[in-house]
Amino acid sequence: MNIGVIGAGKIGGLVGRLLVQAGHPVMFSSRHPESLQAMVTSAGPGAQLGTPEEAAAFGEVVLISVPFNALQELGRTLAAALAGKVVLDTGNPYPDRDGEMAREVVASGRGTGPFVAEALPGARVVRAFNTVRHDVLGDEAHRSPPRVGIPLASDDAEALEVASRLVRDAGFEPVVVGPLSSSVRFDVGAAVYNTGMSGPELRQALDLPDA
Ligand SMILES: NC(=O)c1ccc[n+]([C@@H]2O[C@H](COP(=O)([O-])OP(=O)(O)OC[C@H]3O[C@@H](n4cnc5c(N)ncnc54)[C@H](OP(=O)(O)O)[C@@H]3O)[C@@H](O)[C@H]2O)c1
Repeated sequence: MNIGVIGAGKIGGLVGRLLVQAGHPVMFSSRHPESLQAMVTSAGPGAQLGTPEEAAAFGEVVLISVPFNALQELGRTLAAALAGKVVLDTGNPYPDRDGEMAREVVASGRGTGPFVAEALPGARVVRAFNTVRHDVLGDEAHRSPPRVGIPLASDDAEALEVASRLVRDAGFEPVVVGPLSSSVRFDVGAAVYNTGMSGPELRQALDLPDA
């Protein structure tokens, strides 16, 4: 499955590399693509380099992993290219870091998911890979079960299936929490955020049925 990565920093770069290792063709992108050349070369033969526009066009699935305050600008420039595509969004709204939009999300109590969907109209948004630090993911990928749990939320059942498969391919256990609005249950500040819980621990903490 062709994957485009927009924001190939700490989390986007790590998840992208894990997906290359799983055999997916991955285009890592940057506004300054030459800055990623060494990383892309070391990621393996399935990795290639591009601009955010090229990654949006390349990906059947697009992983967006940018600072939360960059999302609206991305929506303005890339919404047409992302329409109809499965988009995995890792962003977290930290008001001190990300400013007004993040303050709005936190104050709304609606959770991050609906705001991401509004910023990327037409995209099949899945909240994914937002709860666990990149260094923990890097250390724990493909460990013996129970694997680290990755909570997922989306209004699109097929997109959730695609995301679940990619989470497994990257070496973790998908935990489908529910519709996009349910992403509030694993947003910044939620009890399960930044805990590195395993899949079964996450299901128990979120009162979800066993896998
Ligand atoms: N770090 C973690 O462990 C972690 C874990 C889970 C979730 N998150 C969340 O995931 C998001 C990304 O975090 P990160 O730590 O990976 O950040 P990061 O290392 O700073 O990487 C962010 C990337 O976004 C790109 N970017 C910045 N502004 C952009 C814009 N206006 N348009 C397009 N691309 C832009 C940058 O790429 P170029 O400058 O090369 O274009 C940069 O490589 C944040 O919301 C964070 O809260 C982080």
